[in-house]
Amino acid sequence: MIDSYLMSNIAAPPPTELAAVLLDGVRAVRRGAPALAGLEPDSYARLHSAFELLSDQRDLIAEHLAERLADRGDGPISVLSVGCGDGVLDVRLAAGLVLAVPGRPVRYVGVDPWIGSVERFTATMAALDADELSADGHVASFGDSPVDETFDVVMFVHSMYYVADVGATLRAALALLRPGGELWVAVAPSAELNALVGVLAPPLEGHRQWFSGDVGEAFVDAGIVVDDVATLHALVDLASASDEVLDFAVQARLTPDLQGPVRAYLDAVSVPGVDGGLRVPHPVDVFTASGH
Ligand SMILES: C[S@@+](CC[C@H](N)C(=O)[O-])C[C@H]1O[C@@H](n2cnc3c(N)ncnc32)[C@H](O)[C@@H]1O
Repeated sequence: MIDSYLMSNIAAPPPTELAAVLLDGVRAVRRGAPALAGLEPDSYARLHSAFELLSDQRDLIAEHLAERLADRGDGPISVLSVGCGDGVLDVRLAAGLVLAVPGRPVRYVGVDPWIGSVERFTATMAALDADELSADGHVASFGDSPVDETFDVVMFVHSMYYVADVGATLRAALALLRPGGELWVAVAPSAELNALVGVLAPPLEGHRQWFSGDVGEAFVDAGIVVDDVATLHALVDLASASDEVLDFAVQARLTPDLQGPVRAYLDAVSVPGVDGGLRVPHPVDVFTASGH
């Protein structure tokens, strides 16, 4: 009995070592293979919505950003959301701004390269039916965006992964700030979940996806002072994810031979959630930089 107890404890590596071994297993399946397919924009948007339902991260981001918007006072306010997606997050923030100070003019602009998402962004904002809210959506990548106004807040929520040049993007974003304005960049670190993205996601127009370490370095290289970095510690229930939602989580279309190794790795990095169920750590870092 004691022997078998000792054997099982000797045989089982600690969770971090097991995860490293399982991640190597995923790498081994991929070695020498052509890049996996990425997600098409329409399925990306659909699967993103489904993924968010398994995570508490969006609520944490919404609460965090709403508090920061509230800290900016009661005057007129303008916000640019880069990579706004379907606007589910932005409409919560815009509604909060409108409700907090009745009659205060609120300008809210979204930019996203996927037309289906921008249509949903504009429709959701219009559905708020608030006279003091002026909202517009532009179908464009940030680099090609026709935005020709300045803002109190420019935010990138989970969109910095995809830009071609992070430093140039940060500089261009700062140039869109009004005096006293702030740039907010919410981007995930390359932690447990995104270690998989690093192994599995196909390159985007010649570059890998950028994570918060890359963004931090780009701020330094661009000579932009970061005023604050806040980490929001979210959790995501990937044990309940369908195969398609798992594709969104790893940002690649998984082939059948990868499903098992990927799920085994995710089990190994999981921690107990408040309900006792297993959750994958799903942190996000929020950088803040000021304009002039
Ligand atoms: C994970 S979603 C985030 C959507 C939204 N901000 C949210 O938090 O729900 C990333 C979004 O970035 C958009 N995106 C990708 N490349 C972009 C670029 N170069 N410029 C602006 N947006 C981009 C995608 O189309 C997608 O809607």
